Order: sequence, then C-alpha cells, then structure tokens
Amino acid sequence: MSAGSTKIVPDSQWKAPATDSAKESLTRVQNIIGDFDPDHTMKYYDHWSQHYEEDLKVLDYTVPDEMVEAMRKFISDDDWKLDGFQVLDIGLGTGQMAEALQKHLEYRGHIDGVDANEKMMEKARTKGIYRDLVQHFLLSDSPMPLHSNKYNVVVCCCSMVPALIQPECIPDMARVVKPGGIFFFTTRSTDGNIGFRDRVESQLDKLEKEGCVEKLTSKVIPQYSWPTTEDEKEKHCISAMLYGVRKLKET
Ligand SMILES: C[S@@+](CC[C@H](N)C(=O)[O-])C[C@H]1O[C@@H](n2cnc3c(N)ncnc32)[C@H](O)[C@@H]1O
Repeated sequence: MSAGSTKIVPDSQWKAPATDSAKESLTRVQNIIGDFDPDHTMKYYDHWSQHYEEDLKVLDYTVPDEMVEAMRKFISDDDWKLDGFQVLDIGLGTGQMAEALQKHLEYRGHIDGVDANEKMMEKARTKGIYRDLVQHFLLSDSPMPLHSNKYNVVVCCCSMVPALIQPECIPDMARVVKPGGIFFFTTRSTDGNIGFRDRVESQLDKLEKEGCVEKLTSKVIPQYSWPTTEDEKEKHCISAMLYGVRKLKET
C-alpha cells in the first residue's frame, strides 16, 4: 500500500490503531455497536458527547464530506442557494453535517435538526448553524413532530445502525421530504451489519414499489480510518454504505 493510502476492508479484519489516542477513540466508537437499547444508547451519548468530536478527528471521519459530494450530483450548486431551500438533518449529533454543507457548498440556507440526545444537540447548538432543533427519539410507531413534504433535502448521517435509528423509520423520514427533494443516509457497510442492511434495502424497495421514491445512488464510502503503523504509512479503513433517493409524490 502506498504512503497514506486508505483501503476499505471488512470489520472482521480490523487492524489495531498504532497510537493510544486512536485506540481510545476506536473503543468508544466500537462501544456503540450493539443491540437496540434506547436507554443504554442515550446514556452512552450523554457521556460520549464530551469526546465525540475529538474521536471523529482522530479517526478521520469523512462521511459528511462524502455525502455532500454525492448529493452535488443530484442538486446543482445554484439550487442550494434558492430562497426558501430547507434541509433537515436527522440524528444530527454535534452538527458535523451542517458544517460539511457550509464548507463544501457554502450553504447558508435553513437547516433544522432532530436528535434524541440533548447533550449532543447542545454541542451543535453552540455552532449557531441550525434553525430549529427538535428532541425526538425516532421509532417506527412514533412519527417525528414535523410537517410532511416540507424539506428539499433530508440527511441522516451515520445514525442508522442497529443500536440507533431503525430501518422501519425510513418511511417517516421520507415523509418529510418535499416531492422532487432528496433523502440521503448511511448505514454500516460491514459484514456484521448485513441483516440490518437487508432491512434498510427492503424499506427502500417498498417505497420504490409504491412509487414514492426513485433510487439515485448506493455506494460504499470510507467512514473511519486510522494509522496502523507508527510512521502512519498504512491506514485501515471502516466503510459505510451510502444511499440516496428522490421523492416522487406526497406521502
Ligand atoms: C453516530 S452519531 C451521528 C451524528 C452526526 N450525524 C454525525 O455525522 O456526526 C448518532 C446520533 O444519532 C442520535 N440517535 C441515536 N438513536 C436515535 C433515535 N432513535 N432517534 C433520534 N436520534 C437518535 C444520537 O443521539 C447521536 O447524536
């Protein structure tokens, strides 16, 4: 492998980070991989909110950047500047997605956010980028307290994994997208996540069959990477799966 290169490999072949700080960060990331247990997850984020941004820096987290790049193919740079353009960030955490939109697109329009964890949202709030932040725990039988068919763009970045937002919430997330608007999200692209990914894809297939969405893209992207040698020449990478759909009619 060439110096500084990043190769995508399955989680089953994870290599240990070479540095202590990356080891600690990776342990905190690994601890969130598990079964669906809302109480445990929220307590975990109460604590992780203090380390979250630093851990993502150490592990070279790039998903928001990759997502913005991917969306650019389907929404022109001029359209992002239209008056009244609105974005919703579901599972916004500390607001990395909003920062990526500002950095790559110089986006200055409205961004609202939904998250279950107040401490994570508090970090996002201090950045002063979001308009409305709504505390809500997404469950398939508990719709978000938001109007249907409202947002030009809805994103959910790295918040749909077994311990967090469930695939059965996808119809509710698609509900708030404006017809003609797009919905982009990720899950893990790892061998341990195959069953969960099947549930994600079956929700998308159902929406497509009902004529509610058209599929735009699905691809593997890097999620975290870290040096595995002291001189940082070799990097190990965990991958995510990115999906993008366009909404076709009101739901
Ligand atoms: C891994 S973080 C991702 C944050 C951000 N999107 C990013 O890219 O950095 C997951 C976020 O989803 C939130 N979350 C987890 N389960 C949720 C649920 N069922 N409903 C709403 N938010 C949830 C957590 O509180 C956390 O802030």
